Amino acid sequence: MLVSAVAAVASFAAAAAASYGSNAVVGVPPAPASTHFKDTYYFNTNLTLSAPSIPYLPHRGDPAKYGSYVQLTVDFGSVLPIFQQLNATYGPLTSRGEAHITVITPPEFLFAIKNALTIEEVEAIVLKHNLQSTPFRPVCVARQSQVVTAATSPAVGKRTFVYNILVDSPGLYAIRREVQKAYIAKGGDPSNFDYIAGFYPHITLGFETNDWFPEDHAYKTYATCFANILPARRV
Ligand SMILES: *[C@@H]1O[C@H](CO)[C@@H](O)[C@H](O)[C@H]1NC(C)=O
Ligand SMILES: *[C@@H]1O[C@H](CO)[C@@H](O)[C@H](O)[C@H]1NC(C)=O
Repeated sequence: MLVSAVAAVASFAAAAAASYGSNAVVGVPPAPASTHFKDTYYFNTNLTLSAPSIPYLPHRGDPAKYGSYVQLTVDFGSVLPIFQQLNATYGPLTSRGEAHITVITPPEFLFAIKNALTIEEVEAIVLKHNLQSTPFRPVCVARQSQVVTAATSPAVGKRTFVYNILVDSPGLYAIRREVQKAYIAKGGDPSNFDYIAGFYPHITLGFETNDWFPEDHAYKTYATCFANILPARRV
């Protein structure tokens, strides 16, 4: 039973790899194999490059309040050292106190997927494809910024930064493709959700005032990398 489940994961990952090469499919942004910046940040060697031992954490709140989405939960302790280094250099930064890779975003669910699938149906798809076991590779430490426009914010008019680890994960695109297939099969408008477009897999580390999203015209692309990331040496 366990063996066949493992084999099923392996064959899905292999199929994903075969259909993408290493992200070489048209439209999936190619990740740099390595980066060559002045600064390097180290995560704990414990950062399992997938997180199969961490339970899936559901988010089934009010979609209109961005409460329904899908995440791959990551071990916070593994990335905490990087947050602390960034906080010391660029801080003070706010941490969310947890780490995850958003796989289906709250706006994607609210504005598209919800019209065809419930959040439970989306979860059934991602769990069937073993979301928590999907491999990912940290690519770099990145940051994006925007000018705060909220008149109520004490930082109004100021440009503020959000810091994150960008990751490469063909398997997450493969899982999103399964969600897209089900969405279209249930009558979802194909022009409203795409498994590639607008998906920037990352682990948010911290921010000065708030996170910035594509809706704010802040895109977590590889162009925003500014430091290398390496596993810490085991001592
Ligand atoms: C790795 O995790 C184990 C168990 O949680 C912990 O005892 C150990 O200190 C961690 N190692 C590092 C380098 O963080
Ligand atoms: C970030 O650094 C500040 C000092 O600049 C410190 O007071 C704060 O506790 C740090 N935040 C976290 C979450 O560690």
